[in-house]
Amino acid sequence: MKTSRSTLSFFILYFALYSPGCTGMQSALDPAGPQASRISDLWWLFFAVCIVVFLIVIGFLLYAVGRRRREGQLEEPQAERRRVTAVSVAVAVTIVIMFVFLITSIRTGNRLAAFTASDPLTISVIGHQWWWEVHYSGDTPSQNMTTANEIHIPVGRPVLLKLTSQDVIHSFWVPNLHGKRDLIPGHETTLWVQADRPGVFRGQCAEFCGHQHAHMAFVVVAEPPEQFSAWLDRQRQPASPPTDELRQQGQAVFVTGACALCHSVQGTDASAQVAPDLTHIASRQALAAGTVPNTRGYLAGWILDPQTVKPGAKMPSTSLTAEELHALLAYLEGLQ
Ligand code: CUA
Repeated sequence: MKTSRSTLSFFILYFALYSPGCTGMQSALDPAGPQASRISDLWWLFFAVCIVVFLIVIGFLLYAVGRRRREGQLEEPQAERRRVTAVSVAVAVTIVIMFVFLITSIRTGNRLAAFTASDPLTISVIGHQWWWEVHYSGDTPSQNMTTANEIHIPVGRPVLLKLTSQDVIHSFWVPNLHGKRDLIPGHETTLWVQADRPGVFRGQCAEFCGHQHAHMAFVVVAEPPEQFSAWLDRQRQPASPPTDELRQQGQAVFVTGACALCHSVQGTDASAQVAPDLTHIASRQALAAGTVPNTRGYLAGWILDPQTVKPGAKMPSTSLTAEELHALLAYLEGLQ
């Protein structure tokens, strides 16, 4: 049953939601944690009941069509009374079904709202037009870490997401892990998630927030705790200084050029907070919030002409000589 459900969900959603930038799975019908399981169970209940009702209605319709054709004209005296009874029963059954839906929905909502856990991993997420700023706090300020558009979490541990927005209302939605939660400017909302199996789950902004709302994606990477700790330790390190000449030249282009006006790379003089932190950009799967894969070609295109890749994005075009671009790409690719 579990396998057939997953297969069905896969075919329903794979083609509808395929996006080249993010490679993760995105399906509310393939839950990876307790919150999404509750929502998915509710969905399957609705789906099953609606399918049964649909088949009954179609069955009666076909029966009525066939019967009409056979009998044609005559109206029995009891026919009117039978019709009234049939309609009354159908109305009563519909009301009961609606109440079952209402009660199960409220119960699911209450259980999700009541979820809490001690010792969660807390991650802050700030929505921007059109990308996601992600903060992991540490025991000391130097342990604090900032990344973008890619959230790693350890499998099996409850995660408390603190959500807010820098500009307009966005909505955080990772269907495999939970329902949607709005990010509201000047107000903090929270969302508990937990992944019970490793995987890469695609998330998407679910509230229209302007021109590039559709290109405001991210991934949640759920991995075993040791792997997660190793990732977090690496991300907390400042960028290692470039050793070869080409990358040193690239760093100079980054720090003295237009990049440093908006982006930061920890360990260098680039410390602007306007755009995504690029300290470990090379470790991320995608660029421009899931718009394109993080490869050399796409990175070059994104740097030179972001308005073609993502029209309306806040990043302006950059004019660089071929040598500067070559060096800059080498530098960015080294930011593991
Ligand atoms: Cu952010 Cu839609």
